Amino acid sequence: MPDASPAIMPTYGRLPVTFSKGEGAVLYDTNDRAYLDGVSGIAVTNLGHQYPRVTQAVAEQASRLIHTSNLFHIGLQEAVAEQLRAATGMENMFFCNSGAEANEAAIKLARRYGDQKGIASPQIIVLDGAFHGRTLGALSATGNKKIRQGFGPLLEGFQRVAPDDLPAIEALAAERQDIVAVLGPRQCWSTSRRRRATVASTSNGRSSMAAMTRSRPSFSAARVTCSCQARTTTL
Ligand SMILES: Cc1ncc(COP(=O)(O)O)c(C=O)c1O
Repeated sequence: MPDASPAIMPTYGRLPVTFSKGEGAVLYDTNDRAYLDGVSGIAVTNLGHQYPRVTQAVAEQASRLIHTSNLFHIGLQEAVAEQLRAATGMENMFFCNSGAEANEAAIKLARRYGDQKGIASPQIIVLDGAFHGRTLGALSATGNKKIRQGFGPLLEGFQRVAPDDLPAIEALAAERQDIVAVLGPRQCWSTSRRRRATVASTSNGRSSMAAMTRSRPSFSAARVTCSCQARTTTL
């Protein structure tokens, strides 16, 4: 399969497959070959493809109104926020479109908290090898040098500690008066255990599995609960 069109900015190395439809946990490529979807759009399509209630809700909404804006009250958004509040016990919700934005919001909330406490240069603890996102603030927090390289000058105010070293986090927070938050990673890579996205065929060649495994899956972020993430990370 040829590389992606040069009209696409080459920000990602893409696997040589194009999916044309999905049903539940199964994806079909343009040759109608079936794959078990172990990626879910990096944890986005968690209810599977063509989940009837999701399909119906999206179609119904699109047939009535595509978008207004935050300038106005949005009844459905408020209803969802209430549901999330009841489910999580959090005070309120911030809606955004990506994990990177969720972390930008978390960084801003932590800094605002520091400002209110009179801390001139609030610091946020982040983990080595942690991935936080590709916008500038989230990129500055990201622990992987290769991802950060070439985008300087980046944001200051991050203190890096080794992953899985809770005593180090506690010691740093106790020692410094300017620590305002610990930012939980969306995923954390240790180079020795890093695994790449794979497309593996089964022996009969009929079905395949597209799987992206992460060294510490427990760190992957829930996208809808971005403000919960911000809240729980603020000390
Ligand atoms: C390595 C990596 N790149 C990109 C993304 C997509 O990020 P965003 O939600 O900010 O678009 C993710 C999502 O978790 C990710 O883990």
